[in-house]
Amino acid sequence: MASARRLRLVVLASGRGSNLAALMSATRSGRLHAELLAVFSDRANAGALEIAAAAAVAGRWINPKAFDSRLAFDHALFAEIDALTPDLIICAGFMRILSAEVVAAQSQRMINIHPSLLPKYPGLHTHQRALDAGDSEHGASVHFVIPALDAGPVIAQTRIPIHHGDDAATLATRLLPAEHELLVRCVGKFNQHRIGHGHGQLLVDGQARPAWQYR
Ligand code: GRF
Repeated sequence: MASARRLRLVVLASGRGSNLAALMSATRSGRLHAELLAVFSDRANAGALEIAAAAAVAGRWINPKAFDSRLAFDHALFAEIDALTPDLIICAGFMRILSAEVVAAQSQRMINIHPSLLPKYPGLHTHQRALDAGDSEHGASVHFVIPALDAGPVIAQTRIPIHHGDDAATLATRLLPAEHELLVRCVGKFNQHRIGHGHGQLLVDGQARPAWQYR
């Protein structure tokens, strides 16, 4: 049963914000028993900030150039985030690498959506890499954020077939709605289960379990 208290969410996004929009719509419709506290971005012109503003959700651009170091930026960002006492911090197209120190401190409550079937294709250009490898399917993963890039325990994945004639753009377009559904489902699990990670594994109620798989 969902807990009575709404899950407190913060989203980090650098770009378009379609995953953010999916979370907002699920929150509005009541599908997610959650409230979106704020959206943070490292890019002034992020579409995600416009989406937040249009919905009267707090949006905050923090300019990386205003800081002497990566760590100084990260400390400023997470000082603001911590002040909001979120249950879950969701990286949804956040294109900045966070320092290990900050990630380690947040790791049980920070997740990321990545457009590949991890552990395949961490990093960039995932659609093209899946095509170049001749894969028959592609997908997206939601995982806990740990200091190593795109390497944290996977919570859930969604798969789509790769069609003959697909290119990176068609694949990305077809995957996107599946990503949105995946992210909403994963965030919902934080209400329903005691989800965490330890020893590199997904834990549910303290027990290791494989990632959920969707199609
Ligand atoms: C998504 O493909 C997500 O998996 C990746 O960056 C993209 C963000 O898209 N991490 P959007 O900004 O949510 O539309």
